[in-house]
Amino acid sequence: MKILTIIGARPQFIKAATVSRVIANNDNITEIIVHTGQHFDSNMSDVFFKEMGIPEPDYHLGIGGGNHGNQTGKMLIGIEEVLLKENPDLVLVYGDTNSTLAGALAACKLHIPIAHVEAGLRSFNKRMPEEINRILTDGVSDVLFTPTETANKNLSAEGVEEKRINLVGDVMYDAALYYGDFAELKSSILNEYELISKDFVLCTIHRAENTDDLNRLSDIFKNLEKVATKHRLILPLHPRTKAALENLKFNVLASNIVFVDPLGYIDMVMLEKHAKLIITDSGGVQKEAYFHKVPCITLRDETEWIELVQHGYNKLIKNFDTLLIEVEYSLKDVVFDNQMLYGNGDAADKIIEKLSSKM
Ligand code: UD1
Ligand code: UDP
Repeated sequence: MKILTIIGARPQFIKAATVSRVIANNDNITEIIVHTGQHFDSNMSDVFFKEMGIPEPDYHLGIGGGNHGNQTGKMLIGIEEVLLKENPDLVLVYGDTNSTLAGALAACKLHIPIAHVEAGLRSFNKRMPEEINRILTDGVSDVLFTPTETANKNLSAEGVEEKRINLVGDVMYDAALYYGDFAELKSSILNEYELISKDFVLCTIHRAENTDDLNRLSDIFKNLEKVATKHRLILPLHPRTKAALENLKFNVLASNIVFVDPLGYIDMVMLEKHAKLIITDSGGVQKEAYFHKVPCITLRDETEWIELVQHGYNKLIKNFDTLLIEVEYSLKDVVFDNQMLYGNGDAADKIIEKLSSKM
């Protein structure tokens, strides 16, 4: 069986790493990897291939940034050419980025079966580009690999036939288990920034709804500064946010926040494990906070990972002026139990088992 995997953005490298490892151990499957080039800085792309042992892409389309139509359109053209040449048995796409949508759209028009990993998630906010990408990708995918019961319910509510839905758990949990101990051995990031375990807050901000509205972004950083006067706060800076802060004329050098360049996964996991609290608008980081039993505050109006909020591990904040108060509450109040909300850490095995049974 020939599987053609399409990836392009940071979280997709992390998701695909676990599945590609299982494929590499299966003699009956050949994987062709296509990197759209959506993320292209070495610390947004290459570092993950090196650290996580992802095979070098067979095709690199070098698309880069741009407006949605421009970026997705170029991907569609590039992916279609590769699909016509490779004629795979199946196209595998991950998550909800423009690379996901372009891959699914190119494949379905050529009548190539599609499997979507991380299917069924919904924020119910169609102003998010990711929500459009999810709905459309699920719509044209033949095999829907869901990470949670909530995702299954979302798909059922949309009338998706049961036979297309496969609850396998979250491939990011597989990665967290696999690389969690490894990070303890390999990462020196705590020493590098003189961070004391459980005595700092980790923060990531990159979501378009936060960075593209300068009032909202300013409000977020004003309140992060307040948190940073009381707690050591480290923030790996996404290129999108860096550009937006430059527009805002926010002087990172004069800030109380410790800004660092985007990190490789091993250093990021190390920070997540040793943070006392995480503040984020990332989808993946919300879950990783939970995997490593760290309370999380999410700077968004809604989340696709609703079970974390329901269990009290994650708190959504709409009024950013309450951030410091909420940080203090979360540090005192959040208790973790042994719920397994995202499967058993064998999602990648289940995905390949299912795909193999279709051969
Ligand atoms: C994309 C995804 C988002 C995901 C995020 C992960 C879409 C619509 N959005 O958002 O769902 O959460 O990736 O991080 O697909 N840039 C660089 N260097 C890079 C990468 C990006 O400078 O290596 C710049 C680009 O030039 C662009 C901006 O950052 O101007 C945004 O990049 P883009 O990939 O379009 O969207 P993200 O915000 O990264
Ligand atoms: N991540 C990383 N380095 C960083 C920031 C994030 O390795 O500097 C990892 C993080 O641990 C998670 C993934 O990137 O596995 C999340 O990606 P991101 O926040 O960019 O996108 P989202 O999950 O919101 O789509």
